[in-house]
Amino acid sequence: MMVLAFPDYLSQARRLAVRLDVPLLEVVLHHFPDGESYIRLSQSLPEHLIVCRSLNQPNDKLIELLLCATTARELGVKRLTLVAPYLSYMRQDIAKQTGEAVSQRIIGKLLADLFDDVLAVDPHLHRISSLTQAIPIKNAISLTAAEEIGNFLKKKFKHALLLGPDSESEQWVATIAANIGFDYAIAEKSRLGDKQLEMVLPEGDFASQLVVIIDDMASTGRTLAKAADLLQAAGCKDIYAVVTHALFCGDAHAHILNAGVKNVWSTDSIDHSSSCIRLDTLLADAIKTMTR
Ligand code: R5P
Repeated sequence: MMVLAFPDYLSQARRLAVRLDVPLLEVVLHHFPDGESYIRLSQSLPEHLIVCRSLNQPNDKLIELLLCATTARELGVKRLTLVAPYLSYMRQDIAKQTGEAVSQRIIGKLLADLFDDVLAVDPHLHRISSLTQAIPIKNAISLTAAEEIGNFLKKKFKHALLLGPDSESEQWVATIAANIGFDYAIAEKSRLGDKQLEMVLPEGDFASQLVVIIDDMASTGRTLAKAADLLQAAGCKDIYAVVTHALFCGDAHAHILNAGVKNVWSTDSIDHSSSCIRLDTLLADAIKTMTR
């Protein structure tokens, strides 16, 4: 077995290879001036190759996975595992209007055709309960960073109220709260556009509490910022946030901090200055169980 790293996920792949006690191989990747991608793999590949890369900014990366997986098969790899801690294209899971591409199903099928196993962390599954429904292979494994996030929060705070900004976040927030014995509450959110949303906080006394907003990802940052605005209006002075995936598009990170969030932390699924919660043990344990 070997871990194959892309440059954008190199340090995390290195840690994973160390945990698994297997060699690390780096893919040679070049972008031509017109945007095409060049991929080269070493000739001596193992029987089982673990390709590691989070799929934020996904369009080029998906083409590169297609080139990489096809070449690996041509070079004799028998088992191909994709470790994509952040798995994109999971949010569009139904066609709300005629003609809309259901990207979850289409990208899921592409990954199922390329890989024998796919591992993701806190994928955004809303109307389905298992990742195999989106990626139709037996080993489409959805892991959660709930334990890692809970341990992190437990070290930071004696107690906090965990706030989920919408009903979809309850799956993660409730698990983290139960694991570490913190209270939690869930707000209601309706999204009106990429950067426009409405939110209502649940009933409660927020003025006397330290609140940590928890979500699977921060993309534009508007969800976390809106929750922070409402908490501040309710008299809350200590507001923090944790997300699994630090997408932080454009001004997102600054926007969240400007809204009164004292600090925002994330896992290392995506490299960012906030990424201090490591996933290598979670990923390595899952790979060991899967290959046992
Ligand atoms: C959506 O339902 C997700 O769970 C997140 O709340 C959302 O993607 C965050 O996006 P943004 O940072 O753009 O508000």
